[in-house]
Amino acid sequence: MPSLPRPSPLASHWTLDPSRVFLNHGSFGATPRVVLDEQSRWRGLLEAEPVAFFVEKHEGVMDEVRRALAGFVQCDAKDLALIPNASTGVATVAANLALQPGDEILISAHEYPACQNSLRKVAGRAGASVTYATIPFPIAGPDEVVRAYMDAVTSRTRLALVSHVTSPTGLVLPVERLVRELAARGVETLVDGAHAPGMVPVNLRDLGAAYYTANCHKWICSPKGSAFLWVRPDKQTGFRPLVLSNNAEKPKHGRSQFLTEFDYQGTSDYTSAYSIPKAIEFMGREIGSALGAGGVGHEGWRAIMRHNHELCLRGRDVICRKLGIEPAAPDAMIGSICTMVLPSHDAGRQARLAARPSKYHDALQDALLERHRIQVPVWGLAGSSARFVRISAQVYNDIGQYEYLAEALAAELEIERGM
Ligand SMILES: Cc1ncc(COP(=O)(O)O)c(C=O)c1O
Repeated sequence: MPSLPRPSPLASHWTLDPSRVFLNHGSFGATPRVVLDEQSRWRGLLEAEPVAFFVEKHEGVMDEVRRALAGFVQCDAKDLALIPNASTGVATVAANLALQPGDEILISAHEYPACQNSLRKVAGRAGASVTYATIPFPIAGPDEVVRAYMDAVTSRTRLALVSHVTSPTGLVLPVERLVRELAARGVETLVDGAHAPGMVPVNLRDLGAAYYTANCHKWICSPKGSAFLWVRPDKQTGFRPLVLSNNAEKPKHGRSQFLTEFDYQGTSDYTSAYSIPKAIEFMGREIGSALGAGGVGHEGWRAIMRHNHELCLRGRDVICRKLGIEPAAPDAMIGSICTMVLPSHDAGRQARLAARPSKYHDALQDALLERHRIQVPVWGLAGSSARFVRISAQVYNDIGQYEYLAEALAAELEIERGM
């Protein structure tokens, strides 16, 4: 086993295993130590007197969280529901749709599988269907995305699901243009921003989608299980969570039913949500100033996004050069995750390789982990045999880690050529 490349000095703020080269921030995020400490502090307060905490404190804390988050994603706090994850956000919107037989929900193969599953479930029950816009990959530019969605809209399209940043292909999609042009055709949009806050600027007020859901546990770096669903005010009446609590039939004076129902959906550990403000503040101030941003929160976040974007592109270039491949998308469609198309084998070998068992998605990913101690996803898109590797760039990563990945990929692809 060769010695592993070092992460950046900022990795000391995280608890990541130093015996792994962690290049997959994108899948589940990773949370800095001080934010985990903040979550423990909240757990302590809750467990000291659980009944009083839930009855007297919980709603007020959720309001404070909402205020901090609303400043970060540019919206009114009252329009934000705090939920455990983006999968729940999409499932909640799906469950609230009043679909008729023959209606269509427009998505693309780049959408996250869990979200596709939720939409297919509700569509199937209503006699409606899920239709697909064909976004090419590799892709030349955002116009191709807009054209793909517009070509697939019909008079029966009721809703479009669009990722702000796609999961398998790591593309920043032109959501502003899509929301606008879909609305001009009478189609509402649900934006799946699972990766977006903390990776790219998000301004929900300007975007004007019907719904926007996103994770905070990915690029804001709050604890797992912290996310939000923003619902445009005209869609909030009668819009309900998947789980109704005791509060559901108890309207509260001066508080919308939307917040009353979403803020409490049964006994759970809400401390990951409580810790969102700390993550926003710590990353923006401490990490941002370590990157030279001068200690002001929003400037700090701009510095983080810029730094991660640049590191991601440098990492991509190192890998593309080593493998002799071309980038799959223009730089402007990349945030801080980037997917590359791996060199292909002949069809017979590719089929044999695809049949190998994997704990993850592809046995190449297992090999990178077992033989090189690199955590990075290798996957593809349904309906295509092309194989992708997707890198993430977070402040704890360093360019040497991508150089190491490039060498490991070249070595493993060479081994595959002999199989
Ligand atoms: C685009 C997209 N949507 C939804 C999700 C689901 O996120 P979660 O598992 O936190 O619900 C992911 C996770 O990677 C994602 O990338």
